[in-house]
Amino acid sequence: MKNKHILVGVTGSIAAFKACTLVSALTKKGYDVRVILTHHAAAFITPLSLAAVSHNDVYIDEFDGTNEAMIPHIALAKWADLFIVAPADANVLAKAACGIADDLLTSCILASTCPMAAAPAMNVHMYENIATQTNLNTLKERGWKIIEPESGLLACADTGKGRLAEPEHIVDFIEKILSEQEENALSLAGKTVLVSAGPTQEALDPVRFLSNHSSGKQGFAIAAAAAKAGAKVLLAAGPVSLPTPEGVERIDYVSARDLEKIMIENAPKADFIIMAAAVADYRFETTADQKIKKSGDSMTLTLVRNPDILAGLGKTKRDDQILCGFAMETENLDENARAKLIAKNCDLLIANNLRTEGAGFQGDTNIVTLLKPEGSEHLPLMSKEDLGRVILNTMLEMQKGKTDHASVH
Ligand code: CTP
Repeated sequence: MKNKHILVGVTGSIAAFKACTLVSALTKKGYDVRVILTHHAAAFITPLSLAAVSHNDVYIDEFDGTNEAMIPHIALAKWADLFIVAPADANVLAKAACGIADDLLTSCILASTCPMAAAPAMNVHMYENIATQTNLNTLKERGWKIIEPESGLLACADTGKGRLAEPEHIVDFIEKILSEQEENALSLAGKTVLVSAGPTQEALDPVRFLSNHSSGKQGFAIAAAAAKAGAKVLLAAGPVSLPTPEGVERIDYVSARDLEKIMIENAPKADFIIMAAAVADYRFETTADQKIKKSGDSMTLTLVRNPDILAGLGKTKRDDQILCGFAMETENLDENARAKLIAKNCDLLIANNLRTEGAGFQGDTNIVTLLKPEGSEHLPLMSKEDLGRVILNTMLEMQKGKTDHASVH
């Protein structure tokens, strides 16, 4: 726990001086701490003091770093296990809520995927202003943890809520977030996850094919989430231009029959199998070796059925394996998806409606219904990677349920 990376953002508040005590306390506890100051904060506290207590460089501008190849807001965002803005003035809360990224601190906030926290500090009227309260609520809804300011006599001579929480309370608050994070962390160590992603292409001739709009993003996001959780991940990837997520073994396929071969070969090794690929149900009866030349006013092409890969995997799956399918529907989502869950003998089916805003092939978010044999759950809009974690977590719970059940009998 103590080798965790904590990024502290300091904004221009009279309470900025307390950031020194906070950073010093975190460093003494063994955390690796880096600090970003806004220009206003640098008027209250020097970067040198914070560099001295953090034993690290302090960042104010995009190009402060000694390493010229580094883009600070991206590098720092990737580095952080937890990002806290303390003190957070009304301005930074407003910018974070709106997604404004006009300096290093706010760019870094926007680029971060780690847990986010803030310790607000400002004049009581600014704090109580509906705009600030709305911004705080927006951030809380997005998962930010907020440590409430304390009440008392403020620097501006007003009395009320707005004083930065004491540094030792902020340290306790940070440690609580980190331990919750540790408890809730998805661990797939020792598990093998086989996931397919992307479209299939069925060739007509050397220049033409039958395919669909699948981007592969959801399957790639599941593979990335599984690898981050420590699983061995095999990703059967269709013809998409997405980069291979870190720690993932990629096996490329083009057609449904290529994909079927990969899945059949690798399924026995897998604990969890996820068919996120958008498989063409039909292929051309024949594929020409040479480009087909036009002739006549119309042309008839015969399609033949492709294997249903998921249904095949449903027939051969072992009791300890968890099989997850996807269903993309445009109408009667629950009914159609439940029919697929049963027909293909899946443990879990993720259904989405192509017509729902935030769902579908190309975007980075998804809004789905999760179907199990015993019931369904409508999930809120979330990023494809967050959905990946939800799916994997559900599969893990299902597998535990099966093993517990088996050990009782
Ligand atoms: N699937 C598959 N092999 C196929 C077709 C689909 O393995 N030949 C898998 C998909 O990867 C997905 C699930 O089955 O996990 C459902 O795919 P979908 O296209 O929604 O359903 P289909 O079974 O093809 O039914 P329909 O197209 O008639 O809706």
